[in-house]
Amino acid sequence: MTTGHVFIATSLDGYIARPDGGIDWLPQADPDETYGYDDFAASIDGLVIGRGSFEKVLTFDEWPYTKPVIVMSRSLDPASLRHDLRDKVEVSRHQPRELMDTLSRRGWARAYIDGGRLIQSFLQEGLIADIVITRVPVLLGQGLPLFGALDRDITLEHVQTRSYPSGFVQSRYTIT
Ligand SMILES: NC(=O)c1ccc[n+]([C@@H]2O[C@H](COP(=O)([O-])OP(=O)(O)OC[C@H]3O[C@@H](n4cnc5c(N)ncnc54)[C@H](OP(=O)(O)O)[C@@H]3O)[C@@H](O)[C@H]2O)c1
Repeated sequence: MTTGHVFIATSLDGYIARPDGGIDWLPQADPDETYGYDDFAASIDGLVIGRGSFEKVLTFDEWPYTKPVIVMSRSLDPASLRHDLRDKVEVSRHQPRELMDTLSRRGWARAYIDGGRLIQSFLQEGLIADIVITRVPVLLGQGLPLFGALDRDITLEHVQTRSYPSGFVQSRYTIT
């Protein structure tokens, strides 16, 4: 079965974006310090992202991914995809578990799961193996949360926490 892996940055108060989706509080990418992202990106077979995250990525100057991307959405019409993305992006209307079964059959071992609501739903379904959270030292007060309501507790094992000169604090957890 394909396993889901999260690598995400949050504000200290746990938001992944401002209420309007803004991520201006995240520093610009720095090629000299990628906070382990390059190794993580090399370790995954592809990405599964929510429609909200996809729409944000479409505002970037360049398409940031080299691996295949599945966008989970029931509202997005695949025919409306930008031409340059048609061989890079696939739209899926599956439920999370169905999608992971499909990806397993395609030979994906590790999928990068991204987007707050999508991560919450994959967590709820028990499809996330581990989470790397990089906490940025800013309080936003409001925004789109990384975590949300659950119908049961999810326990995690803390693997490692590392702090960076920038003030970022990165923790890795496995889901037990
Ligand atoms: N801080 C970071 O590192 C980081 C990382 C990623 C994203 N972000 C930010 O987070 C924001 C987007 O996050 P978000 O939480 O609003 O949205 P999201 O999780 O990216 O997307 C949610 C959408 O995905 C679709 N979807 C399909 N199946 C789903 C399922 N099983 N569970 C949940 N959603 C499903 C739905 O769209 P349909 O209505 O079309 O079905 C839903 O509205 C953006 O602003 C992005 O910039 C920040």
